[in-house]
Amino acid sequence: MARKNIAAGNWKMNTTVSEGVDLYNSLAEHNVPSDVTVIVGAPFIHLTSLIAAKKDNIKVAAQNCHYENSGAYTGETSPSMLADLGVDYVILGHSERREYFNEGNALLAKKLNAALANGLPVIFCCGESLDIRKAGTQNEYVTKQLEEGLFHLDVSQLQDVVIAYEPIWAIGTGETASPEQAQDMHAHIRSILVDKYGSNAAEEMSILYGGSVKPTNAKEIFGQKDVDGGLVGGASLKADMFKEIIDSF
Ligand code: PGA
Repeated sequence: MARKNIAAGNWKMNTTVSEGVDLYNSLAEHNVPSDVTVIVGAPFIHLTSLIAAKKDNIKVAAQNCHYENSGAYTGETSPSMLADLGVDYVILGHSERREYFNEGNALLAKKLNAALANGLPVIFCCGESLDIRKAGTQNEYVTKQLEEGLFHLDVSQLQDVVIAYEPIWAIGTGETASPEQAQDMHAHIRSILVDKYGSNAAEEMSILYGGSVKPTNAKEIFGQKDVDGGLVGGASLKADMFKEIIDSF
């Protein structure tokens, strides 16, 4: 896919199904600018209702999937189930999945392959902890996450991937990376994409920033040259706040 402006919400484990449908319907009333793609990442149990309510202007994402299409994996949801339902994207590699559910780069590479094989585009997350940021090794760390999780893809597969850079120290903390910190990392990510896939593919990649994006800071962050939008947690749970973020490009 060509480089897009993307406002993606990550509801995490929040809202009941009916609250989620209400939130979706409220967002769907919004006059989304034609150059902005809006996505909401909802819990699995919400997806059937959201797909039934779906409007063209708000796409629907799952927050995870398994790497197999079926089998004896109690409690899991497969990419073929999501694709069949009409889900538009799946978020993979969120730091909360990495940290609390032990998802490493090798596992994420398998999930990524399975999603893409089912025609399900992926929002692939990366980002460093505070310790790594303090040590100043964030570029190396994120490079390794992408090399081990993403860079086995060929250039045509890459077209169905959006990268989300989310420094863990800025997630849910109210502390945002400065626009310069975001731009520096996004430029770094784009430069390693150039090295690996060439400048056309790198230019086409949408790279989102995540970590305490709010209506008050979205414009400045999205205004950075290599920042193509946001993956938004807390502020995506309030329709009015998320609408303001959608209008911040
Ligand atoms: P936050 O979450 O906007 O609440 O910091 C971002 C994310 O985890 O995707």
